[in-house]
Amino acid sequence: MSTIETSHHVPAQDIPLTGRAVIKSMEAYRALVEEAAQDHEAFWARLAREHLSWRRPFTQILDDQNAPFYKWFEDGELNASYNCLDRNLTSGNANKTAIIFESDDGRVSSVTYQALYHRVCRLANALRARGVKKGDRVVIYLPMSVEGVVAMQACARIGAPHCVVFGGFSAKSLHERITNVGAVAIITADEQVRGGKTLPLKSIVDEALAMGGTDAVKTVVIYRRTGGRIPWIGGRDAWLHELEHAQPDTCEPEWVSAEHPLFVLYTSGSTGAPKGVQHSTGGYLLWAAVTMKWTFDIKPDDVFWCTADIGWITGHTYICYGPTAVGATQVIFEGVPTYPNAGRFWDMIQRHKVTIFYTAPTAIRSLIKSADADRAVHPGSYDLSTLRILGTVGEPINPSAWTWYAEHVGGGKCPVLDTFWQTETGGHMITPLPGVTPLVPGSCTLPLPGIDAAIVDETGQEVPNGHGGVLVIRKPWPSMIRTVWGNPERFRKGYYPDELGGNLYLAGDGAIRDPDTGYFTITGRVDDVLNVSGHRMGTMEIESALAACPLVAEAAVVGRPDETFGEAIVAFVVLKGERPSGADVKRVADELRAWVGKEIGPIAKPKEIRFGDAMPKTRSGKVVRRLLRSVAKGEPISQDTSTVENPAVIAQFADPA
Ligand code: WT7
Repeated sequence: MSTIETSHHVPAQDIPLTGRAVIKSMEAYRALVEEAAQDHEAFWARLAREHLSWRRPFTQILDDQNAPFYKWFEDGELNASYNCLDRNLTSGNANKTAIIFESDDGRVSSVTYQALYHRVCRLANALRARGVKKGDRVVIYLPMSVEGVVAMQACARIGAPHCVVFGGFSAKSLHERITNVGAVAIITADEQVRGGKTLPLKSIVDEALAMGGTDAVKTVVIYRRTGGRIPWIGGRDAWLHELEHAQPDTCEPEWVSAEHPLFVLYTSGSTGAPKGVQHSTGGYLLWAAVTMKWTFDIKPDDVFWCTADIGWITGHTYICYGPTAVGATQVIFEGVPTYPNAGRFWDMIQRHKVTIFYTAPTAIRSLIKSADADRAVHPGSYDLSTLRILGTVGEPINPSAWTWYAEHVGGGKCPVLDTFWQTETGGHMITPLPGVTPLVPGSCTLPLPGIDAAIVDETGQEVPNGHGGVLVIRKPWPSMIRTVWGNPERFRKGYYPDELGGNLYLAGDGAIRDPDTGYFTITGRVDDVLNVSGHRMGTMEIESALAACPLVAEAAVVGRPDETFGEAIVAFVVLKGERPSGADVKRVADELRAWVGKEIGPIAKPKEIRFGDAMPKTRSGKVVRRLLRSVAKGEPISQDTSTVENPAVIAQFADPA
């Protein structure tokens, strides 16, 4: 990122929103920051009373007795689906469109809050009738659909934590999550359709359930998306539409403590096994609702579109829970941005009159390429005049992509909000406020009120502005991760490391603050986690998948900066047999890629695989990853290789297959 680009300020006063957004000015923002600084607990309690409906009001705010296992509003009782659905029926939103759904092949349907409520109630009743009760876990493996939201909300209604697994994960990954979370039911579809291609979700579920250790799963609910033929196990399998039909359309919610787990969502860390991030009901929902208002300035007439998948945290917070908690109208899209052509997003914004658009830098970068090549799919060829706010999330956005997005999609009149957050944080942490925060391309600017972000060195001491360090959050906040499912030690050690004093939340990202503005810029992960197309992938996870292949003796995985995808996965592999040569190189590489696809899922397939006779290691036997990263980038090996036991193999790996 060049300093020339980052020093380019886009004055917020050019953006017509000023003074009309929920937070009206920098003074109003600072007043909220100050309110939180004066009394952190009172600040959060005020928000929780104003933004959520409680069945039983809380009397406790923060419980830090057992830090870092913080509890918020614990004696308060509420239900997430009540807050997202029932509340809208009594506030005048019953006949308002909740979801505009567009299928892969362009069919459009919509559902009102009233209709969504009834569908959720019917499924909730059906799950209860099948014995699913408060605290039971339900795995959801569904395509982007109204049914995805119905399934998640139905689980929330009966107090059964859901665990959504992204459709791009393999049977093996699905199995790992089903057993780790101890699911009693699964909600899936016959098939998924994206970009004109189908994926047999139900067969993948059956394959996962056949892998053993899944006896607790008594029910598989199937949404009929395509009508394609699927395997069927009587007694266990049930059609969603038949279940819904048989049930009453109202359902008494299960009132739960604010600390009751709303969901578990798996994400990658720096060790081999994915971790189940556990979120609470009250604190999580609070921040989903508040950030919809503060960051996205959601208003009654807005049409909100977040392009994320419900399999990721963005789809949880800014599709399933946030928009419904504030009674918004949103677009849900089944397909991919490039089908039938790369103008799909712009075409949909035009047709559905989208006003707030939230997507990933990867998508923007790939659509820039297409737009440059073909004027017909350039955003300039569409009427995007309804847009008023743009957002990005998932990875750093380079200033040139930011500027293109602002200019060609936003028409120079929409603020671009670079929102920094994580699966673990539940909602936005550091982000500009629309029409208020002066924007700097490449910077997520300032923390939201109540979020105490800082940059520290490896001992936990805050570094001066202008000096890089690691990003931490000093005070607990309501939407934070509660624990790693089934592994509290992993939570404590990983997120509140003793090295930093044990009381700072470690995000895992490097960051730096601007000396003049105090703005934050995220510089990328400081652990062994890659960010490929805005998806988190642990290098260890891919390494263990490769190492499990009978052909492989040893594997090391690193990331290489990639113009479109952020990072590309590069694998260094030593085979048990001979190092392949000639046509075998591609054949073996393809075989290994397919293997990783089966072990983890297509999203984890290495872009490049390189072979050597041995792994370059230090004398103490440590793989020299720093060196491998240079090799992956194609840099000349000017670094000192004197500590490497076997420097000769570096040249083998330097030769891309
Ligand atoms: C990691 C979290 C948050 C939902 C999607 C990803 C990176 C996220 C930004 C941003 C720079 C970002 C970080 C973070 N990241 N947003 N605006 N600028 N980096 O959620 O899978 O939990 O990944 O994504 O590295 O730690 P996730």
